[in-house]
Amino acid sequence: MSDRLIRPARNLYGSLRLPGDKSISHRYAMLGTFAEGTSRFTNFSTGADCASTLACMQALGAKVNRLDDHSVAIAGVAGRVTPANHPLDCGNSGSTMRMIAGLLAPQEGRFTLTGDASLSRRPMERIRKPLEAMGARITLTDGHAPLTIEGAPLRAIDFTTPTPSAQVKTCILLAGLQTAGTTTVREAVRTRDHSELALRAFGAKLTRTANSVSIAGPQPLHAIDAAVPGDISSAAFFMCAAALFPGSGLVIDALGLNPTRASLLDVLTALGAHISVLNLEEKNSELVGTVQIAGPAEGLGSTEISGSLAAALIDELPVLAAIAPATSGGIRIRDAKELRVKESDRIALVAGNLRAMGAEVIEFEDGLDVPGGQPLHGATIDAGGDHRIAMAFSVAALKAEGETLIQGAESAAISFPEFFDLLDLVAER
Ligand code: S3P
Repeated sequence: MSDRLIRPARNLYGSLRLPGDKSISHRYAMLGTFAEGTSRFTNFSTGADCASTLACMQALGAKVNRLDDHSVAIAGVAGRVTPANHPLDCGNSGSTMRMIAGLLAPQEGRFTLTGDASLSRRPMERIRKPLEAMGARITLTDGHAPLTIEGAPLRAIDFTTPTPSAQVKTCILLAGLQTAGTTTVREAVRTRDHSELALRAFGAKLTRTANSVSIAGPQPLHAIDAAVPGDISSAAFFMCAAALFPGSGLVIDALGLNPTRASLLDVLTALGAHISVLNLEEKNSELVGTVQIAGPAEGLGSTEISGSLAAALIDELPVLAAIAPATSGGIRIRDAKELRVKESDRIALVAGNLRAMGAEVIEFEDGLDVPGGQPLHGATIDAGGDHRIAMAFSVAALKAEGETLIQGAESAAISFPEFFDLLDLVAER
């Protein structure tokens, strides 16, 4: 375990380009593996989660070649993986486990998926149900990993996800890609659509409505070359940090701005931050652009995040809650029960750590009320092994009185190993 001391900052200023989006990197690695031919990805995620996916893909027969820290070439298996003779270790990554379960369920062979202690506590019934409805044979231990798949040909289904989840949607689509007939996934709230866009980029045909996606299988995929857009969920820490300081100035280039991921821009704007988007382009169907952000002279206001907005912002809620004491009117978060089953119970950890810094917080089963106008003091923060908690409280610490010690700071490397170096670069002390 490594600790990190964060000193308060006077301002935040600079220009950044961030490593590739974690969600897109996972999908490109999986689709590149399934495809025929060699795909090359630049600005691939540097996080440990995507390294877990790459290691699993290699164990399944893909030839994975790290060209440099940020680029990877994957020679695909043209639709047929090799069953590994050892369990596939998904590490801390829920995306890896839930999405490759869909890739593997229709394949021939027996596959076992394992994960670390945090991943082994996370709910996996949500993928077993639809895969079993397709005829797959999946074994879990009390609803959790290790997960064993006896691969077999599946049948197409029409499935409505009970809780909005892009991982579950992707799991079903990856199984549907390999299954005769039309598989449809319906969701009450449209979740991030990187799988739909990536499947099309790799040559698959899909049909979409506002709240459903259908894939007629089986379909082959063809290798692509692609640059992964910068990760907006990593950018969120810097955007929230910039929003805290009147007169700050931050520019982030080549950032992924897929509309199903970019609600943070709306929320920060509603809080009063000045944001502009420049150079918007489409690359492999993903929107990429430059974001400029400055903190408002009058400070941040207040906002409520609930309903479909809470689902769209699920990964950004910890950092929004962490900056809420520095707003004038506070932030109310509801309809975010899913936060309790992420890499940690993020509602409990955010509340506990905000209290440690001297803030009052009201905790609900599905969210938090964090009143504004609360000065924070430095404290010892328990990151709980959760990358987003470590980074969220490093941002809160910039505005605190005195120093803050982040315990378990190494967990940031799950999604964003460069985080602390970049924070030092843009935080003016
Ligand atoms: C992800 C989907 C979300 C998100 C996770 C990444 C993805 O999880 O929290 O960090 O890449 O599809 P759920 O599918 O559980 O909502």
